[in-house]
Amino acid sequence: MTEADITGLLGKAVEDFADGKTAIVYFSLTGSTEKLAKLLQKILQADCYRITSLNLPKFLWLIFSLLPILWKIFNCPIRVEPALELNKYENIALGFPKWGFGCPPLLSFLKKNELAGKRVIPFMSYGGWDYERFYSRVCESIEKRGAAIAAKILIKRTRLS
Ligand SMILES: Cc1cc2nc3c(=O)[nH]c(=O)nc-3n(C[C@H](O)[C@H](O)[C@H](O)COP(=O)(O)O)c2cc1C
Repeated sequence: MTEADITGLLGKAVEDFADGKTAIVYFSLTGSTEKLAKLLQKILQADCYRITSLNLPKFLWLIFSLLPILWKIFNCPIRVEPALELNKYENIALGFPKWGFGCPPLLSFLKKNELAGKRVIPFMSYGGWDYERFYSRVCESIEKRGAAIAAKILIKRTRLS
C-alpha cells in the first residue's frame, strides 16, 4: 500500500482533513494499523495519538475479542499518548484492527469520547475474515454517536508489510 493508494481511498477527505484540525488516533497491537496511521500522518500532516491498553498476550486478547459483552459491563482500561484534547479537533482519523466480535480498546475509546459533530475516517487493518461486517458495525456505532463518516479505509495486513 503506497501513499498514492491511500490518497486515492481518502478521495476528497484529503483536502478537507489536511487543515490542521485533524487528529489521528489509533490502537495497534502488532504494528499494521500503526503503519497505516503513520502513512496517514504523512499525507494529512496531522497530529497523531496512540491508544494503549493492558499488556496481555495475544491469545487472551483473542478470547476477550470473542466476548464483547464483557466490555459492555467492564471498561477496558486505555491510555492515549500524548494526552488528547479531542475538542481541539474537528476531524478524527480513528484506526483499529479487526478483532473477533469487538476490539476492547476501541470500544473503550468510543465509550469515553464525545464524537458528536465530528467527521471521522475509520481506518482498519485486518487478517482476512468477516472484516466488512465488523467495519460496518464500527461505522454504525460512530454514526450513532452523532459523527459523520468522511471516508472509509480497510486494508488487509499483508498489503502493509
Ligand atoms: C486478538 C486478535 C483477533 C483477531 N481477529 C481477527 C478476525 O476476526 N478477523 C480478521 O480478519 N483478522 C483478525 N485478526 C488479525 C488482525 O486484524 C490483523 O492482524 C491486523 O492487521 C492487526 O492489526 P495491528 O497489527 O495494528 O494490531 C485478529 C488479531 C488478533 C490479535
